[in-house]
Amino acid sequence: MKSYAVVLAGGTGSRVGKGTPKQFLLINGKEILVYSLEAFSYCKEIDEIILVSHPDYVKQCEELISKYNIGKVVAIVDGGETRQDSVKNGVMKVKSFESGDAIVLVHDSARPLVKESIIKDNIKAVKEHGSSTTAIPVVDSVYIVENNEVNSCLDRSRIFLAQTPQCALLSLFIKAYEKCKSVYSDEAGLLSCIGVKPKIVFGDALNAKITYENDINEMKNRKNGGEK
Ligand code: CTP
Ligand code: MG
Repeated sequence: MKSYAVVLAGGTGSRVGKGTPKQFLLINGKEILVYSLEAFSYCKEIDEIILVSHPDYVKQCEELISKYNIGKVVAIVDGGETRQDSVKNGVMKVKSFESGDAIVLVHDSARPLVKESIIKDNIKAVKEHGSSTTAIPVVDSVYIVENNEVNSCLDRSRIFLAQTPQCALLSLFIKAYEKCKSVYSDEAGLLSCIGVKPKIVFGDALNAKITYENDINEMKNRKNGGEK
């Protein structure tokens, strides 16, 4: 069974607010998107990559793939209005390539420093369990706040923060698309609507998502050895 990475670059990065979508900004001279594509390209267990691009930036994506010689990208598909629409476009492209089942790993290109071990652990989890999601346990206390007062404290041992890749068998994604019409914030949410409970794969701090401009500076520091 083949493993496909669906790398999401369909957003505009409005919270970074640079005009250029954040996936094209540089960390140490290289585009954020390129780090993400290379992470999956260098992993032997990934067979093919579907890149989901914002429709206005397909040419830039093609140029980067050619410049950095990223051979595993087999298709560039247009993103949609929401992240969920973009994921669906990528997954349906996988479906167009596959008559049987496949392993699909959905990754935010805005998480450029995903480690190979995280990718491999997700593939293993999908093989054993059908689906997986990368997440990290919270280390701080978590409150429910009402009127700016602590209403209650949650049991943090049960609370995890979602990262990507979020992964499942192609057949499970298709089943979810057939049955579920709501908007979900991620793939674990989508899959929950058909009763699927993705296995947790531990992520790490380096796999943080770039959301605001300062996250890029943070990531430069971490990549340069600031992270212990
Ligand atoms: N994404 C996508 N298609 C969309 C929206 C988002 O492929 N319609 C991708 C982004 O390119 C990003 C990932 O999903 O890699 C996570 O989304 P987010 O961090 O929200 O990125 P943006 O939507 O680009 O940023 P913002 O919400 O600040 O505009
Ligand atoms: Mg967004």
